[in-house]
Amino acid sequence: MRQKELMNLLSQMSEAEKINQLLQVSGNFYLEDTILTGPLQEKGFTEESISLAGSVIGVSDPAKIMEIQKAYMEKHPHHIPLLFMCDVINGMHTVFPIPLAQGAAFDPELSRACAEASAREASASGIHVTFSPMVDLVRDSRWGRVMESTGEDKYLNGLYAKAMVEGYQGENLSDENRMAACVKHFAGYGAAEAGRDYNTVELTEQTFRDSYLPGYQAGIDAGSALVMTSFNTVNGVPATGNRWLMQQVLREEMGFDGVLISDWTAIEELIAHGYCENRREAARRAMEAGVDIDMMSGIYATELPGLLSDGTVTREQLDQAVLRVLTLKNKLGLFENPYKDADVLKAKQTALCQAHRDLARKAAAETCVLLKNEGVLPLSQSREIAWIGPYVKEKNLSGAWSMFGNSQDTVSLEEAAREVFPGDSYVEGCPVLENSDELIGVPGVKAWSCLKLQQEQEAALEAAREADVVVMALGEHRYQSGEAACRTRIQLPQVQLELLRKVAALGKPVVTLIFGGRPLELGEVSELSDAVMQVWLPGTEGGHGIVDLLCGIREPVGRLPMSFPRNVGQLPLHYDAFTTGRPQFSKEGEIKYYSQYLDCPNEALYPFGFGLGYTEFTYEPVRLSCDTMKKGETITASVQIRNTGRQRGTEVVQLYIQDLFGSSVRPQRELKGFQRVTLNPGQEQTVSFQIEETMLRFYTERKCYESEPGSFRVWIGSSSAEKNHACFRLTEK
Ligand code: GLC
Repeated sequence: MRQKELMNLLSQMSEAEKINQLLQVSGNFYLEDTILTGPLQEKGFTEESISLAGSVIGVSDPAKIMEIQKAYMEKHPHHIPLLFMCDVINGMHTVFPIPLAQGAAFDPELSRACAEASAREASASGIHVTFSPMVDLVRDSRWGRVMESTGEDKYLNGLYAKAMVEGYQGENLSDENRMAACVKHFAGYGAAEAGRDYNTVELTEQTFRDSYLPGYQAGIDAGSALVMTSFNTVNGVPATGNRWLMQQVLREEMGFDGVLISDWTAIEELIAHGYCENRREAARRAMEAGVDIDMMSGIYATELPGLLSDGTVTREQLDQAVLRVLTLKNKLGLFENPYKDADVLKAKQTALCQAHRDLARKAAAETCVLLKNEGVLPLSQSREIAWIGPYVKEKNLSGAWSMFGNSQDTVSLEEAAREVFPGDSYVEGCPVLENSDELIGVPGVKAWSCLKLQQEQEAALEAAREADVVVMALGEHRYQSGEAACRTRIQLPQVQLELLRKVAALGKPVVTLIFGGRPLELGEVSELSDAVMQVWLPGTEGGHGIVDLLCGIREPVGRLPMSFPRNVGQLPLHYDAFTTGRPQFSKEGEIKYYSQYLDCPNEALYPFGFGLGYTEFTYEPVRLSCDTMKKGETITASVQIRNTGRQRGTEVVQLYIQDLFGSSVRPQRELKGFQRVTLNPGQEQTVSFQIEETMLRFYTERKCYESEPGSFRVWIGSSSAEKNHACFRLTEK
């Protein structure tokens, strides 16, 4: 539809049509005979609002979507099609590794491919919008939603946000196999105090702009059609009613002109926040902030008529919001084809097709991070292996946001291992959790009887005694991460640690695989194991991807997107922290008066960017093409690396830059680039990076993004703990 026709349509719509175009309701209102009881009606869900709602959340079956759309459009006065939106976060029927695992691949192009595959499956199901990518920067693994992010680094998050948005959307939203992306949660949701979900966020504007906004900006610059508001406050004002944040920052400064959707009932939560006294005030604040779609609170439906009639909300404000929603529908081509790609047969053929399974297997392998290996991996097929732990037979290897995947389609570790190691023994040994206390509100965790626990543990120890090497498959429950799944203790469940201690005491080589959605405390696990691999929640082809690594068909190439703490007391923990006025060991002979703990080193157990492969690399000193740079010039930073191991291998060469002095203090270092290099044994290669002045910009005391003349260090190496560096100066002219 041309813009003129869209404007004409808008002009013909009644006020009730316009208001309810901003309402999003769940699909059950259209599917079953939902009785609109009192509570629903108080929330604003009337027959009329349902019949005029602009979008639906949570329906994913193509036949149902087409049935709803057909019936809805026949009744709608202007036959405006519904938008169908879902949380397709890391795949649909083919489930890919959780986003935090994808961040570990240091390979945004892999995530682009996963997003494209997700869009193929979702669009064939009739879904028009996905609530992805989640771009929240995270620094505290107590927060359950770290599993949905791509980690603690703004540069990496930005690359992934761009790749995922482009992977979902392609060139045109109306193209086949494409769907609209939604960058979320705007903004700063990952900084919830104490890692407790929905908690207060307190950030300086400098940190907010310098570290938290860049990821969202990258997703917006990539053309994300939607942005979702976050549940938290920013500067003491809830994001969903925060006019400064949404109008000045998001729309004016960051240039977002798409649809702004609230998170689930977030408009109504303005009351619980103590920001709005009532629903009417909440509606006013959200409209003033420019929130276009009200997800599931019903407040726009009930309050906007009154606000419009007394002029508190203007018709222009209403029309602006409605026009953005209609424009999105138009970009998706829904006025010409309200069913877009929905096709029962195509949905069936696309779901879990071999190409998607192959991609999922590759992604599962590329996202695992080898943290320790003392000569025990890759496994030899000539050795008897005992596979022990609750994740040996577990068929659900998907994260908390994988509601469209079916665990029966997943390849478990045992199923994959038996293809390569058929004669081995496979024993659970213990449950994931000993009791369901640790999973508040999550059904289905059944405690084992004492007898079963004893028998399984004995069987596991017997298998270990008979074996040459043991593979332990351990991890937190998949529902111990995700939304509203935060933890104050981030160790493996005790029942699993006890089993690991007993197996390790037998003296056999132990390889420990860690499943889960967050960095855990792995100090004891590492001490008890000869090899440790973080395998996250690897999705449908998780078993194959892991076994491909363990038997050496593929090499581990993952690098940590989040720091792994020694203990939870270190959190929040991130590599790009400021130095403080008393950095450790900065004064000769002084040991006490530093920024440090009495009982724990400051450093992470495993730092950001860390990961091992099956070979070794050495680095020559960093070389710079010159040691001064004017604005507009570039410096070439290079390093020669050599594969000194016995097999071909891949290294992720990382470039970090430190601005030694600034008008506001600067991080100890910041990731500015990385390159994957694969070399044969003995082969060497020079790896170069171009350093430009734009890479040195930050949000200065002058409230703008600019570089400042001064001294800089360039670090190039295999993680954020690298010592190898050189220096240069940026001069004014
Ligand atoms: C949830 C989440 C958000 C999700 C939305 C719809 O509360 O915060 O990420 O997209 O509701 O399910």
